[in-house]
Amino acid sequence: MILKPSQRGQIMPLPVVLITTVSQGGVRNAAPWSCVTPVLRPLDEVLIVSWLKRDTLDNIRQTGEFVINVPRVGMEEAVMICARNYPPEVDELVEAGLEPRPSAVVRAPGIEGCLAWAECTLEEEIARDRYVLIIGRVVHLEADDRFFSETEGMDYEQACPLCSMGGPNGMQFVRPVFTGKGDRYASMLSEPKK
Ligand SMILES: Cc1cc2nc3c(=O)[nH]c(=O)nc-3n(C[C@H](O)[C@H](O)[C@H](O)COP(=O)(O)O)c2cc1C
Repeated sequence: MILKPSQRGQIMPLPVVLITTVSQGGVRNAAPWSCVTPVLRPLDEVLIVSWLKRDTLDNIRQTGEFVINVPRVGMEEAVMICARNYPPEVDELVEAGLEPRPSAVVRAPGIEGCLAWAECTLEEEIARDRYVLIIGRVVHLEADDRFFSETEGMDYEQACPLCSMGGPNGMQFVRPVFTGKGDRYASMLSEPKK
């Protein structure tokens, strides 16, 4: 089946995160984001993409800070409340019944109940006509001890990070499962077999 380029959001699952910010005046904001990715391994930068008309973007420009919160399956309703188009003076954490979590380095709070938190500072903005690429530097990274260990990484079967899949009638929330296969990073460096 040949798809239209605009259906690109329907060909792969995307992560769902909640980005928290505060305005210069101190109003907290939370909004779901899917255009978000770490920039190469092992760098400490992340990339998020924002339409121009976003309180999140305004707040990042005002304060130079944001937090990427990774919500769990079960938080879909709160995520969708945060997606509503509230005016900038509305605190979306209150609207969605989300509990703030003090951040270690930045002023913007994280969100309790999420499974990981990346506190970021604005590194660079790349402006396009209709949207902005924001490169952030991760200045503090933390994960819930219940789902994360130094040796095993995230137990995502237990943690259940939330993803989404686009479709003709909107989006559906989905979650990753283990395929039973994996390999070490070092295997990418080995010579191909002759
Ligand atoms: C799952 C999901 C992912 C989203 N991803 C993005 C995104 O990557 N970039 C963006 O600009 N808006 C995205 N949005 C839309 C914003 O979350 C939405 O417009 C929100 O109201 C923006 O809030 P704000 O104005 O308080 O920043 C997404 C919405 C949902 C539900």
